[in-house]
Amino acid sequence: MYPILEKRVLSEEACLLKVEAPHVSKAQPGQFVMVQHEELSELVPLSILSTFEKGFTCLVKAVGRATLEIFHEARTFHYVAGPLGKPFPVRHYGNVAFYTYSWGVAPAINVAEALKAQGNKLYLVHLSEDFYLEDMAYRVFDSVSHSKEIQIVDADLVISVGSNQLSKELVALYPQKDIISMVNVHMLDAVGLCLVCRVLVDGKQRLACSDGPWFYAHSVNWENLLIREGAYAEQERIALEEYRKILRRKSLREEVL
Ligand SMILES: Cc1cc2nc3c(=O)[nH]c(=O)nc-3n(C[C@H](O)[C@H](O)[C@H](O)COP(=O)(O)OP(=O)(O)OC[C@H]3O[C@@H](n4cnc5c(N)ncnc54)[C@H](O)[C@@H]3O)c2cc1C
Ligand code: FES
Repeated sequence: MYPILEKRVLSEEACLLKVEAPHVSKAQPGQFVMVQHEELSELVPLSILSTFEKGFTCLVKAVGRATLEIFHEARTFHYVAGPLGKPFPVRHYGNVAFYTYSWGVAPAINVAEALKAQGNKLYLVHLSEDFYLEDMAYRVFDSVSHSKEIQIVDADLVISVGSNQLSKELVALYPQKDIISMVNVHMLDAVGLCLVCRVLVDGKQRLACSDGPWFYAHSVNWENLLIREGAYAEQERIALEEYRKILRRKSLREEVL
């Protein structure tokens, strides 16, 4: 069991978790964990926001069954695997522009802190309405903007995280520029066995869990990822409906008692 030492609710659908899991405490920038609430719960990939000597913190945005369960019920995790994935390539690039969507701001802050230590100048453009960890972002980035429209930034490197659609749009917007993006894919085991997280990179199959999750965006087949995003939509809808019923039953029972 891995205790959740602190759960800070940020909105009706997002929270910040501080988790005791000493094996994750040495994670490098841009890595992630797989967490499982209970033995029969789904495993969920979550980016590491920060580490401390006994574990890590992460941001959870509840979008479906498994993340909603963590948001509403988790006090401990049954299983925490990590640190997973290849770290972000941290070095001096010069001017670095981050584009983030929703929970993407958490891995962006994690990577930005390491890039800042290398003397990079950091810009953040956050593109979704939900802007969590805003205070933290203002502390780490040299410039922060929250906008509905993608604004062009004069940068040596572009980084995107939180949405495949956003990464695809940036590839079209910056045809000549290096872009490093986190691919957003379903994951099952995160150890390279199930192949659920496959990504086409330069026409070759790569695995987001072990080769990624960061790839040069111009090499990724985003169309393929966007089609596969919706592959389990019906099952996800049913799972969410079932879970909402369970939550309703629980709250009715609590009212009666
Ligand atoms: C490497 C990595 C890091 C991540 N880091 C974070 C993080 O720090 N915080 C956070 O809140 N979320 C993060 N995510 C996304 C998170 O894992 C998913 O939102 C979660 O697995 C959804 O599970 P669910 O059962 O709650 O929802 P589901 O019922 O599985 O899905 C609900 C909706 O979200 C879509 N969806 C679910 N998972 C994905 C996915 N991985 N890619 C694209 N669309 C998806 C579904 O198509 C559906 O529309 C990360 C994902 C990856 C791959
Ligand atoms: S999640 Fe199974 S191979 Fe990557």
